[in-house]
Amino acid sequence: MSPFAHVTPLQRVSDTKAAGWHQVVAASTAHDMPGVPAPDPGQIHAQLTQPALGSRRLTWLATAADAPVGIAGLRLFTSPGQQHLAQLELHVDPAHRRLGTGSLLLSAVVAACRAEGRRSLVVTAAADSPGEAFSERHGFRRALTLDHLMLRLDELDVAELLRIADAERPGYRLTGWAGTVPDELADAFAAAKDAMNDMPVGDLDYGSVAWDVERVRAMGKVVADRGDTLLTVAAVHDEGAMAGYTEIVLPQGRGPRAQQYDTAVVPAHRGQSLGLWVKAAMARRLRDEYPGVVEIETDNADDNVHMLAVNHRLGFRSYRRTREFQLDVPTT
Ligand SMILES: CC(C)(COP(=O)(O)OP(=O)(O)OC[C@H]1O[C@@H](n2cnc3c(N)ncnc32)[C@H](O)[C@@H]1OP(=O)(O)O)[C@@H](O)C(=O)NCCC(=O)NCCS
Repeated sequence: MSPFAHVTPLQRVSDTKAAGWHQVVAASTAHDMPGVPAPDPGQIHAQLTQPALGSRRLTWLATAADAPVGIAGLRLFTSPGQQHLAQLELHVDPAHRRLGTGSLLLSAVVAACRAEGRRSLVVTAAADSPGEAFSERHGFRRALTLDHLMLRLDELDVAELLRIADAERPGYRLTGWAGTVPDELADAFAAAKDAMNDMPVGDLDYGSVAWDVERVRAMGKVVADRGDTLLTVAAVHDEGAMAGYTEIVLPQGRGPRAQQYDTAVVPAHRGQSLGLWVKAAMARRLRDEYPGVVEIETDNADDNVHMLAVNHRLGFRSYRRTREFQLDVPTT
C-alpha cells in the first residue's frame, strides 16, 4: 500500500478520530519534546469539540493505509483586532516523516487561511527541531524565541517564598479566586487584563484585543468547560484598581504540572515588585491547597528581562526553548 498520506478535513469528531488525533500528537510530542507531557485523550477531545476563547477551529487529519499519520489544527481568531490572525498546530507521526505529509497538511491550511482572509499564520516549534527546519523551508520567518522555565514546588526555598508573599506592600492587598472572577472585581480585573497587551511578542503580527467584563467571564467559562481549573491571585490597590495579577491553570484530571497563564502589572503600579508578590502568593496557594501539583511551567519571551528576573528570583529554572514562526500568507 502507498506510504503517501491522504488529507481530509475533520468534519465530525468521532471518538475514533479523536483517538487517532491523540495518537499522532502523543507520538510526535514524545519524539520532539521529551519531558513535555502530551495532552491526554480527554484534553484532546475537549480541544477538538470546544472552541478556545475568541476563536473557531478548522482541523485536518492525514491518513495512510487508513491509519492516522498527521494532524493539523487551525485556530482562527474572531475578536476585533485579531481577525487577520491564524494559529497552526501541526504534527506528523515520527514513523511517517519526510514523506511530504507535513507539506500536504500545510497546503490545506494555507488554502484555508486565504479563503478565510488571514494574512498572518503563526506556529510554535521546539528550538532546533525538525519543526524549525520545516517552517523555514516553507517560508515562515522566526518571530520570537521563548524560554520555558519550571518551578519545582517541592524544591523551592519555602522561607524565602513566605518572606516575599507575606511582605507588606503599603496601599495594596492580596486577593484570589478560582474559576470566573467574582462580580465585585470583574471591572477592575478586565481593566488590568488590558495591561497584558504590552507583553513583548517579538516580530509576531499578533494584534491585540480589548478586554471587558464579558470577555473575562467568557475566558473563565472556556477554561471550565474544557475541564481545567483557573486560579488567579491579584493585588488590589486601596482605591479599588487592580494593580496586578497572575493566573495558573490546573489541567483536568489534576496532573502534577500547572501551567502559568498571564502575569501582568498595570503600568501605573510597576516598579514595586507586585509581580513577584502575586507570583509568590500563588506558589504558596498551590502548596497549601493543591498538594498534588508539584511544578509550574511558564514561558517568557527571551527579551522579557523583567519577567525572567521575577521568575529566576522565585526559583524557576530554564529547561527548554521554543520559537514562534510567522508566515505572511500570500494573497495572490
Ligand atoms: C514539522 C513536521 C510536521 C514535518 O512533517 P513531515 O511530514 O516530515 O514534513 P515533510 O515531509 O513535508 O517535509 C518537507 C520539508 O521540510 C524540511 N524538513 C522536514 N523535516 C526536516 C528535518 N528533520 N530536518 C531538516 N529538514 C526537514 C525538508 O526540507 C523537507 O523536505 P525533504 O524531505 O524533501 O528534504 C514534523 O517534523 C513534526 O511533526 N514535528 C513535530 C511537531 C512540530 O514541530 N510542529 C510544528 C511544525 S511547523
